[in-house]
Amino acid sequence: MKTLIVYMTHHGTTKKVVDHLLSLLGEGETTVVNLDEVSDPDLSPYACVIVGGSIHVGQIQGKVKRFCESHKDQLLQKRLGLFLCFMNKELAKQEFENAYSAELRTHTTAHGLFGGELLFEKMNFLERFMTRMIAKENKSRSAIDYEAIEKFAKTMR
Ligand SMILES: Cc1cc2nc3c(=O)[nH]c(=O)nc-3n(C[C@H](O)[C@H](O)[C@H](O)COP(=O)(O)O)c2cc1C
Repeated sequence: MKTLIVYMTHHGTTKKVVDHLLSLLGEGETTVVNLDEVSDPDLSPYACVIVGGSIHVGQIQGKVKRFCESHKDQLLQKRLGLFLCFMNKELAKQEFENAYSAELRTHTTAHGLFGGELLFEKMNFLERFMTRMIAKENKSRSAIDYEAIEKFAKTMR
């Protein structure tokens, strides 16, 4: 099935997740678009669309939200997967519900909460400060849930 993965990333973790998804779904049938590079991809060739982004200060990237809003009618005609990268496990479900509209969430074939990474070496001064003060974290760590990614890919295939 022809599949499009649309995503955004700040520090590369969502890209890492997308690369893993790509390897699981098969590169031949799957196209990947970073919304930072292509703001309005053509969805018409694809039977399946997967949308993902990451949470920063409680919000998914605005471009992901706007993409979902402006393509809502088309997305509701597709086999749809929605996923999120995040670090706060307690808030993940709420952050997911805030990131994607109820209409899209209800329509999904699969939804994925994939965890994330804190990469201090990629943060700017303000991000480092906020991560230390708000999240009380002070070193890089990875908490990507590869099992959840594999389960998601299996459902989407
Ligand atoms: C400045 C900053 C703020 C963040 N805020 C949140 C947050 O509010 N909730 C959360 O669950 N994760 C938060 N995170 C964790 C990110 O979602 C996590 O680092 C994710 O892997 C980033 O993916 P990306 O590199 O693809 O953008 C934050 C990370 C940074 C650096």
